[in-house]
Formats: sequence, structure tokens, C-alpha cells
Amino acid sequence: MNRKQRAHPRSLVAALASESKMENPREVKDSLQRGAGNFSAMAAEMRESVPGQEKLPRLGFLGVGWIGRNRMVSIIESGQAEVCAIADAEEKAACEAASLAPGASVAADLSELLKLDLDGIVIATPSADHAEQTLRVLDRGICVFCQKPLSRNARETQALVDKSRSVNRALGVDLSYRALEGSERIRRIIMGGEVGEIYAADLVFHNAYGPDKPWYYDLSQSGGGCVMDLGVHLVDLALWALGYPEVSSVTSRLFSGGRRWSPDHGAVEDFAGARIDLKNGGIVNLSCSWRVSAGCDALISATFYGTKGGLSLTNKEGSFYHFRAERFRSTAREVLSDGDPLWWGRTAVEWARRLRQDKCYDPDIEHQVAVSRILDAVYGRA
Ligand SMILES: NC(=O)c1ccc[n+]([C@@H]2O[C@H](COP(=O)([O-])OP(=O)(O)OC[C@H]3O[C@@H](n4cnc5c(N)ncnc54)[C@H](O)[C@@H]3O)[C@@H](O)[C@H]2O)c1
Repeated sequence: MNRKQRAHPRSLVAALASESKMENPREVKDSLQRGAGNFSAMAAEMRESVPGQEKLPRLGFLGVGWIGRNRMVSIIESGQAEVCAIADAEEKAACEAASLAPGASVAADLSELLKLDLDGIVIATPSADHAEQTLRVLDRGICVFCQKPLSRNARETQALVDKSRSVNRALGVDLSYRALEGSERIRRIIMGGEVGEIYAADLVFHNAYGPDKPWYYDLSQSGGGCVMDLGVHLVDLALWALGYPEVSSVTSRLFSGGRRWSPDHGAVEDFAGARIDLKNGGIVNLSCSWRVSAGCDALISATFYGTKGGLSLTNKEGSFYHFRAERFRSTAREVLSDGDPLWWGRTAVEWARRLRQDKCYDPDIEHQVAVSRILDAVYGRA
């Protein structure tokens, strides 16, 4: 890949603008027109000069639909890695992605990717396949960056963590909302004890559209409905922000089409409410859904109530991309972060940046076992 191609910000804009299948294409278009989503600036922030002779990590991509292609473009723009090979079950998707990744070859499938001399593979296939594919990649001593959810349940997640540790190769998951500047500020304030003891948290992710690809609604390909898709972000964000507190119990109620959902229900759940009771006496309430009447495109928030104040991360005007973080003192509010146009793709870029220096096991992945256990309990499987 030559320097000019790596640095070209227009390719990122074009890739995002061409995402007609994303949750809310109108919003990205509007953002690009307003310049609110300053993706070129993001590319510039993430790009670093590459020291003289340093060899960049060689990456393969498995699954380059909506998110796989976006993450690939973010990594290319960052200059943190070289995209060497792309595989997708749809040859057209692989070829289109390859046209955005100068020098990358198209591989037939994962088996072919595994034959190449790669340092890491980014997996962005339908969710139920993640665990098996990740295991195969790690088994070959290759690092993985997997889309969320990492797996379908805690048993699979534990097996992946064990494998990553035993082969001493890094395994990362794209829990992208952690990378928001507002999330980071909130976590730091909580960890610093500035709002006292957090005794309650409310986290919400309602997507008024719901996914537009059929596989999301097929349990055998998705592993679950809105809990697998959106609830995983909420559980991860809550545990991460609170410093991984111990859980004493989980209660939940799931729905499909407005009716109570149960595991023998044919369809996947499209609404979930859950309450996580913590051993320290605190509670965490979660709610997520697809296609609910939200009055806007999306309602996304994480609010934390402490003995000395509150903290909140909220999406702005129903946006999937624009967030504000605030600190509350009784009725007063202070803005901590208002708009972070550079967050999109940051988790993937950070994974590539780490890989550049260190391919070894990253113990942060162990927290995903706790996340998976809670999701199991939400589904009534624990
Ligand atoms: N981190 C996030 O915030 C975030 C956002 C959106 C989606 N996701 C996750 O990303 C994953 C993909 O979602 P999407 O919306 O991009 O789906 P998508 O349908 O747009 O893309 C999936 C791609 O995988 C390909 N594929 C299917 N089986 C394959 C196989 N065995 N080998 C190679 N390619 C295969 C498909 O052809 C398709 O191109 C899901 O797990 C989803 O939960 C994460």
C-alpha cells in the first residue's frame, strides 16, 4: 500500500456514504453534509507517521458487510496496519471491499485466509459464527479482533478466553461505545470516586429501525435478538464503567412483537428489560429493543446515580452517532463531552495500534466472560 492511498480521507467518506444498508443512512448523509461527523479529521487524528522501516501488522478481514467494511476503512485510514486479504461469503462484497484496500487480495474463505502469513484477522460475520471462527484463527496463532457479540454464551466465551491465553495471542472485541470520549470521562469520574458510591444505573438502547438483514432475525445465525445485538453493549458498558462489580442476581422480561418471549418461541426477542442486582447493593436496569416506537431513530443512554451526583451519556436528537456526556449535581448539569466525531472505528484502530507493538494475550478479554454470564441470565439460561 502506498502512502498516498493510505492517507486518502475521501475513501472513508465514500465508504460511509455508500452504506445504504446501515441503520440510518439518512443520518450519515446529513452528518457528512453538515460536517458534523468529521470523518476526515478522525482519519487525521488516528493516522500516525510510521517510523522508517517498521513493518505494519498484516491483517485479513473475514466478513466485509456493513461493519466489517467500515472498520477496515478506519484501520486503513489510521495507517496502523496493512490490509492484506479479504474474504466474504459474497464475492461481490469481498471485491468491493478490496477496491477500498489497495494491494489486498480476495480470499475464498477463512481456510484460505489462514494459509496467509497474517498477524491478525478482523471478524465481522453473522454473530452466531463468531466463536467458531475466532477459535480457528487463534488456533493458528493469529490475533483476532471480533465484532460483538464475541460468542453466543458464557461457555463459548470462556473457551475463547482460554484459547487466547494458551496461544498467547491477543483477542479483542468491538465494544465500540466504550471508545466514546464521554464514556471514558464518565468511567474516570466514577473510578475517582468523584460522584461517591454509585448505587443505581439505567442503560437504554432502543433502535427504532431494527436490523435490515434477515440473518439478525434467524436464531441459528444471530444467536439471539436485540439482547445479543444491543444488550451486549449495555452490559459491557455498565460493568466497564463500574469497574466490574460482582453480580448477585439477574431478572429479566423479554418480548417479541409485544408478547412475552420464551426460549421455545420461534422468533428472536425484540424487546428486553432486565435488572442486575449487584453484591454491593446497587442495581443496574437495562432496556433494549428493535423497532419500538421510540419517537426518534434511536434512544441510547447510560446514566449512573451516585451518593454525590450523577453522570449521563445520551445520544443527541435520536442520533446513532452523536453523544453528550454530562455530570449532574441535583438539578444542575455540567457538560463533560459534547460531540466526539472521532470515535467511530476507534476501538478497531486501537486494537491495530496495540498489535503493532504487542501480539500477546490481552487480559482485558477476561471481562467478557462476566458479560456473557449476564446475557445468559437475561435469556434465562443461567
Ligand atoms: N461494534 C458495533 O457497534 C457493531 C455494529 C454493527 C454490527 N456489529 C456486528 O458485526 C457483525 C456483522 O454485522 P453487519 O451488520 O455488518 O452484517 P452484514 O450482514 O452487513 O455483514 C456480514 C457479512 O459477513 C458475510 N459472511 C457471512 N458468513 C460468512 C462466512 N462464513 N465467511 C465470510 N463472510 C461471511 C456476509 O456475506 C456479509 O457480507 C455482527 O456480529 C454484528 O453484531 C457490531
